[in-house]
Amino acid sequence: MCGIVAACLISEPVLGCLIEGLESLEYRGYDSAGVALSAPGTPRRRERGRVEDLKERIAEDPLPEARAGIAHTRWATHGAPSRPNAHPHRQGPITLVHNGILENHDELREVLAEHGAVFESETDTEVWAALLAFEERKTGSGVKVEAFLEALAAAMGRARGSYALAILHENHPGRVFFARNESPLVLGMGEGGRYLASDVAALLKRTHEFLYLEEGDLGWITAEDHLVVDRDLKARDLRPERVSWDPEAVEKGGYAHFMLKEIEEQAGVLARTLQSAAGAEGDFLPDFRLSDEKLRNIRRVVMIACGTALHAARVGKYLCEEGAGIPAEADYASEFRYRDPMIGPEDLVLAISQSGETADTLGALKVAISKGAVPAAICNVPGSSLCRAVEASILTKCGPEIGVASTKAFTGQLLALHLLTLRLAQARNALPEKEIERRLEILRGGHPAMQTLLSAGAREHVAEVAKKYARKPIFFFLGRGPDYPIALEGALKLKEISYVHAEGYPSGEMKHGPLALVSEDMVVVALAGETGNYAKVLGNLQEVKSRGGHLVVVTTTSRREAIELADDAILVPRTDPLIAPMLHVIPLQYMAYYVALERGCDIDKPRNLAKSVTVE
Ligand code: F6R
Repeated sequence: MCGIVAACLISEPVLGCLIEGLESLEYRGYDSAGVALSAPGTPRRRERGRVEDLKERIAEDPLPEARAGIAHTRWATHGAPSRPNAHPHRQGPITLVHNGILENHDELREVLAEHGAVFESETDTEVWAALLAFEERKTGSGVKVEAFLEALAAAMGRARGSYALAILHENHPGRVFFARNESPLVLGMGEGGRYLASDVAALLKRTHEFLYLEEGDLGWITAEDHLVVDRDLKARDLRPERVSWDPEAVEKGGYAHFMLKEIEEQAGVLARTLQSAAGAEGDFLPDFRLSDEKLRNIRRVVMIACGTALHAARVGKYLCEEGAGIPAEADYASEFRYRDPMIGPEDLVLAISQSGETADTLGALKVAISKGAVPAAICNVPGSSLCRAVEASILTKCGPEIGVASTKAFTGQLLALHLLTLRLAQARNALPEKEIERRLEILRGGHPAMQTLLSAGAREHVAEVAKKYARKPIFFFLGRGPDYPIALEGALKLKEISYVHAEGYPSGEMKHGPLALVSEDMVVVALAGETGNYAKVLGNLQEVKSRGGHLVVVTTTSRREAIELADDAILVPRTDPLIAPMLHVIPLQYMAYYVALERGCDIDKPRNLAKSVTVE
């Protein structure tokens, strides 16, 4: 949700590095893009649309050479996508880019206007620039770096809301200032210079050494040095961390879309996540640092997440209750955080998030921690705000996920939930050791089954079915038990990338209302695999079929009746019911992909959306 990147380079012009960073961050927003350089007059170029559009603008109106600069790709919050609303914004000597929301911008705008500020845009970010310019005039910082940091700290004291800022000042050539609160910002240290970015993915081609900046941190970078201080301007002692992600992971690697590449990486994700969960002495999840005693004292697991991660949590509820014999809930983080939830020290609050930066999930976790809950996480990004906020986490080994539609992170989260369930079961003696070992073996067996589903033949069959129905206006996805959240996920994938109205429903609920919608226009995609309750699912399918809907069934060769009833059957390998949901999601991801392709949609950058939702 808005990406910022900044760099101070030793010997290379900075523009190429900034554009490269923006291209890697574009999944965070693509309403407009802009860049400003540390050169006399702080020249900037901004354009509505994509980074490509910005590049064209720069080609028409070239920028001077410079070694330091800042850049931004925007997901519009305040002010429509337009050139005047595009970052970087400027007030006096200050030019800045911002990710976040300045909540008291209206109030500050009025006060600052009274002091002479004139605004050119509708954005909250321009108010940030004016606030900083105002505080700077008060401290009279001139060319003193320390005095400007004082002004920045004073402005932070008056700003409410979330922000990651990268700032150029005319009096400080070759230096980029920064500040962070609630929005992510990392500081990279490479041989060629120093960098700032919303996300390590933007900088992997430049460095693997990062400082993860924390709430209230501010400071500066130059090509060969940096300073991080807290709001009292006391030096912070942050340790650099090494990120092992391969820079190629942020490239499409010959695929037409990141989404397709990431769907096809899922078998590898399972293998890597399982491998990293295996301890040296036959134990598992050795890095999940909650003692058996603590796990025994837990009375309930409350999972909080958003979107796709919430669907994983909903599967997790079934897993925890069945496998670990512990009551479990899954809730929208955005609801949980504002409903004064009944949570206490006997609750394990598990936040699930690919990015580890989702504002609602972090906000909900804060509420849970304030009520004394035991905080834990399932997350894909080491060093993220989420990982740093909890007592214990399980890292999914997906590598960077770039496609806005989450795919491989989902299966990684499901696997992590299986592992957590078994860890809880072990600590609480809810399952015999032999049964835990049997289940781990089943999870290991998921890899070949998933490879079958990802084979060219399986993919092409789903593509044909998707093509057949791609122009239908309504899709319903049905499932029972742990397949119900998979149906929700199938519907979410389809609506977000193909803009087709889609709903996920528990199969048994159709007769309580939605059956009225069944018509020629409707496609029903039903999950009727090995997850149990088959007889009931079959009855539900007959109800749909007899009312004239198009029926696509995801099932196995043994389910003859379901295959016969279906207009189209998508076959999945026969496996233990434990892992069937994790496999059922694969054809649904492909279905969304191929429907979107057929409809000519922008698959990796669906309209109105962006990845890593760092605002509320
Ligand atoms: C859907 C999707 C979103 C995210 C949600 C949470 O494909 O990507 O629904 O799942 O915004 O994001 P994370 O997992 O980063 O917290």
